[in-house]
Amino acid sequence: MSGRSRRVSKNAGRSGARTRTRARAGEGREPLRLVGRRPRAAEEASDHPARWTRPHVRTLAVASGKGGVGKSNLAANLAVALGARGARVLLLDADLAQANLDLLLGVHPRFDVQHVLAGDKSIEEILVEGPKNVTLVPAASGAPELAELDDYRLECLLRGLGNLETEADIILIDVASGVSRQVLSFCLAADEVMIVTTPEMPAFSDAYAMIKRLRHRGLTRAPRLVVNAAGSADEAEEVAHRLRLVARRFLKLELEPCGFVPFDPAVPRAVRMQEPVITAFPQAPASLAYRALAERLWSPPAGPDVTFQPLAEKLEA
Ligand SMILES: Nc1ncnc2c1ncn2[C@@H]1O[C@H](COP(=O)(O)OP(=O)(O)O)[C@@H](O)[C@H]1O
Ligand SMILES: [Mg+2]
Repeated sequence: MSGRSRRVSKNAGRSGARTRTRARAGEGREPLRLVGRRPRAAEEASDHPARWTRPHVRTLAVASGKGGVGKSNLAANLAVALGARGARVLLLDADLAQANLDLLLGVHPRFDVQHVLAGDKSIEEILVEGPKNVTLVPAASGAPELAELDDYRLECLLRGLGNLETEADIILIDVASGVSRQVLSFCLAADEVMIVTTPEMPAFSDAYAMIKRLRHRGLTRAPRLVVNAAGSADEAEEVAHRLRLVARRFLKLELEPCGFVPFDPAVPRAVRMQEPVITAFPQAPASLAYRALAERLWSPPAGPDVTFQPLAEKLEA
C-alpha cells in the first residue's frame, strides 16, 4: 500500500460506519482486508475458523418461507456473535428491495448494491464496517426493481461476492422472504441454508414449502432449522420435530435442528435503538440464544474441508 494513493471511502453517511475501498476498481489491486488484523496466535488456535474454512470460505444463507419471522434479526445477531468470537464475517443483505440490515446494525451506508448493479461502484467500495468484525454488503430499501434481478445481474453480484471470499471466514446471506427465483438462487449458491420459522402454522407451512422448492431445484445438503420467537423450549422442540418428520418422509431430507430463539421483547426494543440485541442487551434471553447458535456453527468439522466450494465454482457447475 505504501506509495499508492487511496481514496478514503465515503460510504458512511454518519458516524460509526467506516468502509474500505481502493483507488479505482481493477487498478493495482492490493489484498482487501475486511477487518483489522488479529493477533496471529488467535488465527493459529485450532478452533479458529480460519483453520477450518480455508481454503474456501463457508457461505450460509438465512432463509424463511414467510416474512417477518425474525430472519434479518437472526442474521445480524448471528453475524455479530460470530464476529465477537473472532470470525471475519461478511454479511450480505440479499433482501435487495427491502433491505434493513443497515438499520439493525446501526450503520449508515451512502452506497449499496444498487450502485454496484448500476456499474457506479465496485462491491468493495460499498462495504461498511459494522460491530465486532462484521462487514456489511448493504442493499437498498424501497427499490422494487431489485426484487427480481435478471440472471446476468444476479451472477455479477454473486461473482463480486466470490471475489471477497479470501478475506472472510464466513459469508452470511440474509435473503428475502418467499420462494422467488432470486431467493432460490442465493440459497443454492450457498454451502448451507438455515431455515427460520416461528411456531405459527403459516410460517411453519411456508418453511416446508421453501424446503420443498429448494429440494426440487437440486438442494442435496439438508438445511439447518431454527425456531424463532418460541414461547418455550418444548414448543420449539415440537415445531422442529414436526418439520423434520415431514421433510424426512416426503423430501428425504434430514433437517438439522439448530435450536431456538425465545420470544423476547428485548429484540424489538433493540431494533428501535438501531443496535443488535446482542450488544444492546447482552444478557437478554434472545442474546444468549444467538450466542449459543454461533457457538454451534463455530464447531470445527471433523474431517478435512471437502464440503465448501468457492462461489465461483458453484456458479460454473
Ligand atoms: N425472538 C424474537 N422475539 C421477539 N420479537 C422478535 C424476535 N425476532 C424478531 N422479532 C421481531 O419481529 C419483527 C420481524 O423481524 P425481522 O428480523 O425483520 O424479520 P424478517 O427478516 O424475517 O422479515 C421485528 O419487529 C423484530 O423485532
Ligand atoms: Mg428481513
